[in-house]
Amino acid sequence: MSFSLTESLNSILSAAFQSAGYDPKYGTVTVSNRPDLAEYQCNGAMSAAKEYHEPPFAIAEKVVAYLRENEAFSEASFVRPGFINLKLSEGFLASSAADMAVSEAYGVRMPAHKKIIIDYGGPNVAKPLHIGHLRTAIIGESVKRMLRYMGHEVIGDIHLGDWGLQFGLIIEELRDRHPELVYFDPDYTGDYPLEAPFTLSELEEIYPAASARSKEDEAFMARAHERTWLLQHEDRATLALWKHIMALSVEDERKLYDRLDVHFELWNGESTAAPFVPVVVKTVQEQGLSRISNGALIVDVAEESDKREVPPCIILKSDGAALYQTTDLGTLIMRMREYAPDEIIYVTDKRQEMHFTQVFRVAKKAGIVKPETELVHIGYGTMNGKDGKPFKTRSGGVMRLEYLISEVEDAVREKMKERYDDEELSEETVRMVALAAIKYGDLSNQAAKDYNFDIDRFASFEGNTGPYILYTMVRIRSILAKSGIELDNHPDFHALSGFAPSLRQLLRTLIGFTDMIEDATRTLAPHKICGYIYQLSDAFNSFYHDTPILKEEDSAKRKAYLELIALAERVLDTCIGLLGFSAPDRM
Ligand code: ARG
Repeated sequence: MSFSLTESLNSILSAAFQSAGYDPKYGTVTVSNRPDLAEYQCNGAMSAAKEYHEPPFAIAEKVVAYLRENEAFSEASFVRPGFINLKLSEGFLASSAADMAVSEAYGVRMPAHKKIIIDYGGPNVAKPLHIGHLRTAIIGESVKRMLRYMGHEVIGDIHLGDWGLQFGLIIEELRDRHPELVYFDPDYTGDYPLEAPFTLSELEEIYPAASARSKEDEAFMARAHERTWLLQHEDRATLALWKHIMALSVEDERKLYDRLDVHFELWNGESTAAPFVPVVVKTVQEQGLSRISNGALIVDVAEESDKREVPPCIILKSDGAALYQTTDLGTLIMRMREYAPDEIIYVTDKRQEMHFTQVFRVAKKAGIVKPETELVHIGYGTMNGKDGKPFKTRSGGVMRLEYLISEVEDAVREKMKERYDDEELSEETVRMVALAAIKYGDLSNQAAKDYNFDIDRFASFEGNTGPYILYTMVRIRSILAKSGIELDNHPDFHALSGFAPSLRQLLRTLIGFTDMIEDATRTLAPHKICGYIYQLSDAFNSFYHDTPILKEEDSAKRKAYLELIALAERVLDTCIGLLGFSAPDRM
């Protein structure tokens, strides 16, 4: 069964327009922007007036005559100049919520199935993950889960930055510290050791040291570049060291992503695309798309309709080196060959927008992807500190992601200790609440906007926060547990009658789920889910405040109340799952 509130209301209104002698297309309903006057409204009479040369008021009057008989509405009225105002009947609210409860995915209409690759995460290997990596992980994971919910096949690829200068720096620094290692013996022909010649913590110390040194020591920087060239040309010893660095560093990153409940199907990277770089060059050259400019190989991608200048895409620098865009084009060739996706979504900082414009245009022009392959860039804004300035550690450095997570966990633990006995508070609960604080704090903002990361506010149990949502869910679960009644998720809401405003609001919010989720997934916008669950939590809490659920004497009514809040809890649980976090049993 499928249930969509707007679809049901639109079909009723369309039929009424038709019965009154007008085109049914005018029968579209929206949530009223004047909730004091109406719950829903239809402005079709105003548009129809132009076509039929009749006053809108007269049209609205005729249409409303057909709506008054309809069971869906307890009120249907019209006001000047020709607005139709609607209020849903109790019976319609109750049966819609019951339909929704038993429908697969609450009645969401599944779009045409697609195979989608989502490219997110994108950390550069061998550098510790820092707060700049947080947004792509959180947004990407949520979008992936949302698209899966809509029935698509979605493959998440982390697209590691694993082929760059950081390896040259680390390896050259290592050479100066340990020239005796076999990797640096040019005459060595045997197999290289399976064990890495350094530990993770040594590696973590080597990289910043080498990076700092390269800024002062030109000769060292030149060696690092040469070493990077050797890597990219698959020098045996360099590759062996690269593998050691990769293994240690990737294992460490995986742990941190697990801690964030972020999971990738593919751990490919720039290195995976390296063999396809020559194919990119050949493709653009053979098709006559490229030209040489100042020694570099470039492809013009400007279009007449461009509002701002789109510079040519550089494929090879004058020294023959491939660039970020070349690697992304190579990756596209590989992805099309291996997976033939219908769509590829990239989640990065919005400052990379021009990069993706160029890459997408070359890919289409050169036929690297099909004309119908959708290429989408989700560009997000900057996460700033509480004061709106770039997020820094106390000493002014870039904050490591694991420290940020720990800070939020500390804040959550403190807040929870104030409310609960220490002994009851498990670390698992702290972890779950902290994750909700971080993810909700991020996702509740429109992705493209900058936002301020405010630990105190995000970790608060009140207001528009992750912990507030979890707290609401835990409260519902505890009422259900106390009731001792077994529910089967096949609710009957007909026992409910004489709706208090808070009950109406709860039902209306619940039945808005399908419209919300269809919109949020179509526009790849997790913030719409956050807005919805905040509304739903508020609606539940007002209802709970007004209604002595467990004390209700009428047992059919009590059961209906319990089924209603159980449905609210299920919907909240589905939504937080799509956002990428989960609720503890107790809080
Ligand atoms: N490693 C890149 C960075 O640090 C992000 C990779 C994004 N994905 C891509 N296919 N370009 O900016």
